[in-house]
Amino acid sequence: MASNRPRFLPVAAMACFAATMAPAVLAQADTPMPNPPEFPFENPMLTDQDVLGKFLFWEEQISTDNTMACGTCHIHEAGGADPRAVNKPHPGPDGIFGTDDDIAGSRGIVRQDAAAGQFVHSDIFGSGVQSTNRKAPTAINAPYFNQLFWDGRATEAYTDPQSGLVEIGYLGALESQAAGPPVSDVEMGGVNRTWDAITAKLADVTPMALATNLPAEMLDFLADNPTYPDMFEAVYGDPTITSKRVMFAIGNYERTLISDETVLDAFLKGEIQDFTGYDPKMQAGFELFQGNANCAACHVLPFTMDNDFHNVGVRPDAEDHGRFDVTGDPADMGRFKTPNIRNAKLRTPLFHNGAAASVPDLIDFYSRGGDFDDGNLDPNLLVLDLTQDEKDALIFFIEEGLTDPRVEAGTFPFNRPTLHSELPPLNTTYGVASADGNGGFAQVIDTHPANLGNGDFLLGVSDAVPNTGAVLVFAFDDDPAGTPYPDPRFPVPVNVDLGTILLTAAMTTDADGIATYNLPIPKNPVLSGFLVYGQWFIADPTALATGGVYGTEGVAITIL
Ligand code: HEC
Ligand code: HEC
Repeated sequence: MASNRPRFLPVAAMACFAATMAPAVLAQADTPMPNPPEFPFENPMLTDQDVLGKFLFWEEQISTDNTMACGTCHIHEAGGADPRAVNKPHPGPDGIFGTDDDIAGSRGIVRQDAAAGQFVHSDIFGSGVQSTNRKAPTAINAPYFNQLFWDGRATEAYTDPQSGLVEIGYLGALESQAAGPPVSDVEMGGVNRTWDAITAKLADVTPMALATNLPAEMLDFLADNPTYPDMFEAVYGDPTITSKRVMFAIGNYERTLISDETVLDAFLKGEIQDFTGYDPKMQAGFELFQGNANCAACHVLPFTMDNDFHNVGVRPDAEDHGRFDVTGDPADMGRFKTPNIRNAKLRTPLFHNGAAASVPDLIDFYSRGGDFDDGNLDPNLLVLDLTQDEKDALIFFIEEGLTDPRVEAGTFPFNRPTLHSELPPLNTTYGVASADGNGGFAQVIDTHPANLGNGDFLLGVSDAVPNTGAVLVFAFDDDPAGTPYPDPRFPVPVNVDLGTILLTAAMTTDADGIATYNLPIPKNPVLSGFLVYGQWFIADPTALATGGVYGTEGVAITIL
């Protein structure tokens, strides 16, 4: 840590500073009100457009494999971010899990070629679920940003992916942002995913086929408009589904996600004159935040953000260049967008990579003046050397003063459906696999839910011998006794009952040892709740113990 860094004022100076600052800091009349967000001129709120946007935001069928909605990574009660991120599912730039540069990213999809309908190998994740390389920030209060993403690469001017036209000139960062994840190869889309494929799919699917517990306003809208074309007609006057209409609806739904009922907001709105009605730590924490701890230099009221980018020294610049990769300006090296910090308590771990596990950890970080200074550390980032009392006050203010009870409880406008991905998976593996000639085991890829009408249902095998024959067997029954089927070709545990075969499909594994089978699930309600059992058999002349063919575990697939 550079020794010539500005330091926190000594206690005596602080008292004097606080005394002179106090009137300005505390005068409620001087603090800005949390006003509603501005709408882009091109996208005024239409009747029920926010409800349509709510459907689209929580619609898992926007993803190629029906596993990811926008909301999967932006859960309101988790402060608008991804509660699954605590497991740090991205190994960071070194590619090795369990090291300091690991990232609290968001799990997306198994890598797949969306056009070909095939699972493909990912260099980092193999055929496991991929993860984003940054922490999901919150979508709540996002309308107040001019640019979105940690590096601000989603800009105000929205260029529509289908028409190629600039459909919003200013204030369209939400629409710009929303165009990305559905076609991302990591998050929702896969390689070769197009917006034409997404809008065509939306026209065909049953809205919210995978979700449960729909809020009343969604149920009402669905009752009047049972299909997406009906819903688009209700909002836009005709049933055509376009990427522009999807993005405009999602953007205007997000413009309703305003968190402005925290204790701080009661003060900003003049409902309380100070924080004396709370624990004394609230007042002390607020004064530190606005005054000597210098937080307000960047986290500016009312929304604790400054629409700017700063290097606060969370990680070495080389790990993630942040804003620099957007502008190419050396001054932007290692800079990230100042986040709004309402509801931060709910979305730990914090920072662009989740480096701070908790609010107390984050306050320790700021107290020591950050962790890395590669020469571009922001001059406003002081070494604070806070006392424990000061730390406790700041922690209390952030945790209790900046948490909106509606966000925490998931009440309107932060209510939402339960996602399919939040429930235990319907596809489960069972039984025993046999080994290839080297003692390795092939894995079943069973991430796709088999919902009625899902024409893109894929079942895969990975980690198999490359470029060899792979046969997928679907059967009506499993083999609960585990009795080896008396077929001389399978002297190994066979987990499906080969006597009840529904179909067999012969394929070849690719150079990475992956094969994929597409089984379109008919839109026939009679099949609902129906179980099918699958198992892969792979040719390997060196698997001598099992006669040159080895098998995966069985997988039980419930049709939804
Ligand atoms: C797989 C998880 C995932 C999915 C799915 C996902 N997001 Fe995100 N979202 C992220 C991550 C990670 C970032 C930050 C990426 C970055 O900054 O490089 C982000 C950033 C954002 C932001 C920017 C917030 C800010 O302050 O800059 C918004 C708004 C947002 N997402 C909304 C959406 C919408 C709308 C969808 C669906 C169309 C969506 N997200 C789908 C993970 C996800
Ligand atoms: C120089 C500008 C600056 C100062 C001063 C500053 N912050 Fe930050 N803050 C940021 C930036 C930029 C980030 C995002 C950094 C990153 O993720 O790499 C951030 C992140 C945060 C977060 C995490 C939010 C989230 O969603 O992950 C919290 C909470 C926070 N700051 C609180 C504070 C407090 C409390 C102080 C005062 C002790 C403070 N900040 C001082 C700019 C600043």
